[in-house]
Amino acid sequence: MLKLNLNINDKDYSVEIDEDMRLIDVLRDVLGLTGTKEGCGEGECGACTVIMDGKAVNSCLVMAFQADGSCIVTIEGLGNEQDIHPIQKAFLDEGAVQCGFCTPGMILSAKALLDENPNPSRQEIREAISGNLCRCTGYNKIVDAIEKASAYLLKEGK
Ligand code: FES
Ligand code: FES
Repeated sequence: MLKLNLNINDKDYSVEIDEDMRLIDVLRDVLGLTGTKEGCGEGECGACTVIMDGKAVNSCLVMAFQADGSCIVTIEGLGNEQDIHPIQKAFLDEGAVQCGFCTPGMILSAKALLDENPNPSRQEIREAISGNLCRCTGYNKIVDAIEKASAYLLKEGK
């Protein structure tokens, strides 16, 4: 067993885990943060994307011990039905969500981009989500949504 200290969505956690656990296992199975999805488990689909110390990462490729002491943002840390985050609102407004399986990862890749580059070009948006696969939407609506999210965030001064 291994002791792991993490800050997730601005809350501190200290958990005992098996040494072979990945970050996604800790999030979903130990902490019940099931908004993070597992698709391929091999770094190919981006469904498991979270933000770790400011960077979008595939949580299926990060061993839990590698995340010790880090700050993580998962989809649960953005908004909720009562207080929706501007990126989530933009995805809904643009019809960028169909089955929704890719959506948490897409939104976190978008957040990591917009935190660093508040007014990205469509090309920069496409590059930022190039590791996130969507089988439903054809990507254009997702790019539209991230552009709209950029506008919402700039308007709000966030
Ligand atoms: S589940 Fe991690 S990249 Fe697909
Ligand atoms: S909305 Fe279904 S995979 Fe993207």
